[in-house]
Amino acid sequence: MKAAYRCPSNIALVKYWGKKEGGTQLPANPSISLTLGDLYADTSVEIVSGNVSGKPAFDFLFQDQPKPSFTPKLDVFFRRIWDGYELVRNHRLLIRSTNNFPHGTGIASSAAGFGALALCIYDLQQQLYPLPDSPHHEASRIARLGSGSACRSLFAAPAIWGEHEKIAGSSDEYAIPFSGEIAPELQILMDAVLIVDAGEKKVSSSEGHGLLQQNPYASARYGVAKDNLIKICNALETGSLHRFISIVESEALQLHAMMMVSNPYYILMRPGTLSIIENVWAFRENTGVPLMFTLDAGANVHLLFPKMYTSEVTNFIEGNLLLYCQNRQYLCSTTGVAPQKLH
Ligand code: PMV
Repeated sequence: MKAAYRCPSNIALVKYWGKKEGGTQLPANPSISLTLGDLYADTSVEIVSGNVSGKPAFDFLFQDQPKPSFTPKLDVFFRRIWDGYELVRNHRLLIRSTNNFPHGTGIASSAAGFGALALCIYDLQQQLYPLPDSPHHEASRIARLGSGSACRSLFAAPAIWGEHEKIAGSSDEYAIPFSGEIAPELQILMDAVLIVDAGEKKVSSSEGHGLLQQNPYASARYGVAKDNLIKICNALETGSLHRFISIVESEALQLHAMMMVSNPYYILMRPGTLSIIENVWAFRENTGVPLMFTLDAGANVHLLFPKMYTSEVTNFIEGNLLLYCQNRQYLCSTTGVAPQKLH
């Protein structure tokens, strides 16, 4: 018995950075993201035998090779869902996962990987031990238990994760799709990911989240993120590109500012990151093309733009920005694509 899913990665517009104390993987502030339809994981889960060991039993192949470095994260995930999932308690599982984007580009694959894994596990559990009134957000909830931001990868619409009193149905436990009507100007955004540094990050995301606990600026940051979420939802509905850009770029810089004011402090941007940002500002000023940047917890730069500007932006990237990219690499993806069942 087997299930397989394709799940996209995602890029946050309002960033999740910091976890609530207590609870498991609950965000300190709400966030919103877009799925990256052309950067995805294909994952399958197969039941290979019974499991009477009293602990999670699984084998994991990444790009067809054993990947022991992923075992601890997977083990934590299976232990977190152990009580609710007979599938995990009673069976040994074979997990195979591949990413369609090249390994060693510095693109985090955990959102796509855990999104796809959660969908497979939920699907098999429902086939074998169906719960008639299983909540529709269950797959997103367990994806969160693998990697926080993964819970936002399961929707074609922008995904909101984290409770906000002004957003009906929002929850810290799982993501929900944005329910407003998106203005035409912002309906089809593209994301060009410029690979500034393909190496491993010096400080992992989980360490970074942890450093917020002692960060004196953290509570102010959580308040601003909450406000920005409402502002960006309004901008999506009104189609105000100007407001949308200013929130997206400010959020990226605030994420990195929080790293710089952590103790110990650290910087994940590289000189190329800043050069690209300055070039993007000059390009926008000179051409009026609504091109904006955002950042993940790394040096790479995500350039977002409405699809109608693809040829101008591609020319700009290829003519002016590739010199800042490691091995002149960049990847371009559409946004707003839902996961897909493969088997
Ligand atoms: O899901 P994690 O623990 O890898 O955290 C990711 C956090 C950011 O990517 C930096 C921001 C976000 O909201 O995705």
